[in-house]
Amino acid sequence: MVVGQECNILTKISSPITGSDVVFYPSAGHGGGKLDAWEFDADLVIMADKMPDQSDTMDDWFESFGGDSDQLFASSDNYRIEQRGDRYFCFFFGDNNEVFEKIRDAHLPITTFIGINDGCGEGGNYECVNSQPWLHKVFKRFPTSGGRYITDHSPVIYPVNHQHWHSHPPKPHREFIFEDWNLKRGYGRLRRYSSGMYGRGLQYEVNRHNRSVWRWENETDVTVTLEHDNIANYTESLDGVVVSRRCKNQLDELCEVIPQHQVIRGWHSGTEDEEYFTRHILEWAEDNQLSTVGTIAYGQGEHEGILTVLNSWAKAYPQRVKIFFFDEEDFQDIRSNFEYTGG
Ligand SMILES: C[S@@+](CC[C@H](N)C(=O)[O-])C[C@H]1O[C@@H](n2cnc3c(N)ncnc32)[C@H](O)[C@@H]1O
Repeated sequence: MVVGQECNILTKISSPITGSDVVFYPSAGHGGGKLDAWEFDADLVIMADKMPDQSDTMDDWFESFGGDSDQLFASSDNYRIEQRGDRYFCFFFGDNNEVFEKIRDAHLPITTFIGINDGCGEGGNYECVNSQPWLHKVFKRFPTSGGRYITDHSPVIYPVNHQHWHSHPPKPHREFIFEDWNLKRGYGRLRRYSSGMYGRGLQYEVNRHNRSVWRWENETDVTVTLEHDNIANYTESLDGVVVSRRCKNQLDELCEVIPQHQVIRGWHSGTEDEEYFTRHILEWAEDNQLSTVGTIAYGQGEHEGILTVLNSWAKAYPQRVKIFFFDEEDFQDIRSNFEYTGG
């Protein structure tokens, strides 16, 4: 057994692990016997929690996730590591960020990231591990074959927050695009992760996003594009956006620059009539002399009216309308009128 303060113990076990499945669960807390680290189909499970600071309590926390403190591969004042065959379970008693840095410095991939009940609401965490900076740095460690993301709240994709303690949160997206990653909802057995205040956990498969764009032009010079991408990736090139409250919250979370905007309350009912809403966007852009306006999927599956309105639009503004969407099947009813231009 390795005892003592290694500068980064993960480097001692990283070489056989590189390229394999690594689970990272920050703010893991005390398992209470509900979640067994050895049940993960993974070569390495890494948990982190800044509590507790007594060494016998550390054993208890380690054992609460199925660890055996009598069979340690390595231990110190701030970690316990057990090895079973070729597999390892590590519990670090320290700050989530410091543990992430150990993983990165050991050149380990992360293949499953668990952002569950991380203490950002109650539990003393100074940040949310589902926030944009965290997802950015974690997804960068996913291998090219993609990774798995488990969460029960996220200011970015699943906006359950304290406002929703007494009301229903919005339905989580089935598909989402974050930076250049595509997230697709999967349906694993997740009840055992959901111990906390936010309710059930969700699972997303995360892969690199291949963006797709369809373009339509008419004689009156308005160009319309359908873009399978997140509007948040384009705010710097848009003069104005017309979006839902939820989308605006996401823009606030993700974007440094937010262009002139109009927020539509009750998005689904307010945008159901695609002709009426298209005219609304065009008139708003004309009134404000906006050349390029962006919006998000609307029309509830009916989109023919978008082209009807655009065909009769002959004003100087806007020159470009960009409609962004997450669901890759969306706008099928009018795509044949558009030219596919790839990414
Ligand atoms: C509400 S508890 C939930 C624990 C566990 N995720 C669960 O669902 O049972 C939140 C945990 O986050 C830990 N925590 C808060 N901020 C942390 C940080 N910056 N680094 C590591 N752990 C942190 C706390 O010690 C606490 O155990």
